[in-house]
Amino acid sequence: MTEIVHVPLGERAYDVKIGTGLIARAGAEIAPLLGRERVAVVTEENVARLHLETLRAGLAAAGIEMEALVLPAGESTKGWAEFSRTVEWLLERKVERNDMVVAFGGGVIGDLVGFAAAILRRGVRFVQIPTTLLAQVDSSVGGKTGINSPHGKNLIGAFHQPSLVLADIGVLSTLAPRDFLAGYGEVVKYGGLGSLDFFEWLEANGPALAAGDEGLRAEAVRRSVQMKADIVAADETEQGVRALLNLGHTFGHALEAATGFSQRLLHGEGVAIGCALAFETSARLGLMSQESPSRLRAHLAAMGMKKDLADIPGELPGAEGLMALMAQDKKVQAGRLRFILARGIGEAFLADDVDLDVVRGVLEEALAAR
Ligand code: GLY
Repeated sequence: MTEIVHVPLGERAYDVKIGTGLIARAGAEIAPLLGRERVAVVTEENVARLHLETLRAGLAAAGIEMEALVLPAGESTKGWAEFSRTVEWLLERKVERNDMVVAFGGGVIGDLVGFAAAILRRGVRFVQIPTTLLAQVDSSVGGKTGINSPHGKNLIGAFHQPSLVLADIGVLSTLAPRDFLAGYGEVVKYGGLGSLDFFEWLEANGPALAAGDEGLRAEAVRRSVQMKADIVAADETEQGVRALLNLGHTFGHALEAATGFSQRLLHGEGVAIGCALAFETSARLGLMSQESPSRLRAHLAAMGMKKDLADIPGELPGAEGLMALMAQDKKVQAGRLRFILARGIGEAFLADDVDLDVVRGVLEEALAAR
């Protein structure tokens, strides 16, 4: 069964379709959007090896021809070099304003290809076919596109909404368990920021969905995407409420930077630990009881996930060093650190005036427990 979440953005509205076998049916899904029966697909080598022939056959079944550009896998692809290669390749293929570009991969591919589509001929349409849990629940929906700069991650980009998102739940079974669980960090984030009910559902169903239950996986993706769609519809360009989607990210980005954006800590792992630290900070500030961060950590532990600084291998900077890395985060406004805090599980809010001594104390304690 295919579930549909509609993202209601007026002229830029689109559907996110969630179900199994969507890649094999991609032709029928995409055909109504096409001016002519050809698409340009941009992917990366691992996804190409596992799934590109399924996509090619699925498109051909609807009479759609595809040409594919296969980029190297990994975060280092998301920079100027592969970006300009992609744009030039799309121009060589004579992709026009009415054509459709397909981003087929995880967050790196979705962000890079979305940005290429945003600037190619001042904007062409694109379809997201996300192949990781992280991309299905977060980066493929909402129109944030971009690449990294030597100055930091995601610093060059544009808002450019896709015309369709096809989240094929079947591909998730080809992910390494660690990558799946890292994506699950973003799923837990949705419960933490906006829905105690969803968090309780995850507590009850998380282990079974991690073990492979596709019905539960589809439900987790649907509920996450519905929450994201509601927030994006209310605040497409992050003037306010969309910032709640960054729960756990200020701490998480600092930890990713401290570990060199390496395999020591995946993005979703940093987000999960960051959510726990944001909740801990909220408890210290008297906004929530200590039970909430403890409950969040207990769920991460039950899922076999990293839940604290003690779970990150290798050296970490001290509290001051981590605070300095947080200050470089792009969510700094007028020199003040913005945090997403919460009054309980599912009750996040944007706080501009957080006492940094409390944050420092939370970090010192977490570092001391290593
Ligand atoms: N990943 C956060 C957002 O899309 O706003």
